[in-house]
Amino acid sequence: MPKLTVKANQSELSRYAAEFFVSTANRAIDDGGRFTVSLSGGSTPKALYGLLASDEFADQIEWPKVFFFFGDERFVPADSSDSNFRMVNESLFRPLRVAEQNIFRWKTEFDNPDDAAADYETRIIDFFGLASGEFPIFDLMLLGLGDDGHTASLFPGTRALSVTDRIAVANCVEKLDAFRLTMTFPVINNSSVAAFLVSGESKADVLARIIDEQATDLPAAQVRPTSGDLHWLIDTSAASNLQST
Ligand code: 6PG
Repeated sequence: MPKLTVKANQSELSRYAAEFFVSTANRAIDDGGRFTVSLSGGSTPKALYGLLASDEFADQIEWPKVFFFFGDERFVPADSSDSNFRMVNESLFRPLRVAEQNIFRWKTEFDNPDDAAADYETRIIDFFGLASGEFPIFDLMLLGLGDDGHTASLFPGTRALSVTDRIAVANCVEKLDAFRLTMTFPVINNSSVAAFLVSGESKADVLARIIDEQATDLPAAQVRPTSGDLHWLIDTSAASNLQST
């Protein structure tokens, strides 16, 4: 059963999300000696990343035991203003001086997105020591929600939605006239903890369709961890159309 947490505004939501991140990380480190996290991009989590890098939170996690991945990426140069890696690098990695070997970014310098996805998939397989057909188990899969119901770069009507035998794929998103790079549902649903971070009035309608109506036509509604926990961390603006809070 998904667990909903509603906070008064984006600032309180980001603070709660930082506390959630710290407790999830420290539980994983205590249990297994490391914390593997797949980060989300977009604008919502930026405040969370800044908080984690702040004096208030920075010393609450043993960062050398944290291994960072990205649930999706735009197929743009790593220094592009559209790059999820660049956003996280500026808000979290650089301020915390995270070692390069702890950061697994999508290498968008490949000539084509399929090669970039294949490279990322190989690096994930190597890191987790996966056998053929196995999927990684991320300790935390941090996700955002688009107002069209997409999550990661799993957009409505795109081919990646139906991929069940890959970890990472390139996905042509016609509405954006662009290729995106994304982890697939088998990976997302294999996570120990999947947590959506959703803020703002613009997400109220789509959130209600997912939470109240379980609208199965929306990609984010397909996030149902097989054995892990599902959390919705939302603010009152995003929750404003919900019946069930
Ligand atoms: C991306 C994200 C994407 C994002 C949603 C919400 O690459 O943009 O991974 O899935 O989480 O689009 O974006 P906002 O937080 O900007 O609303």
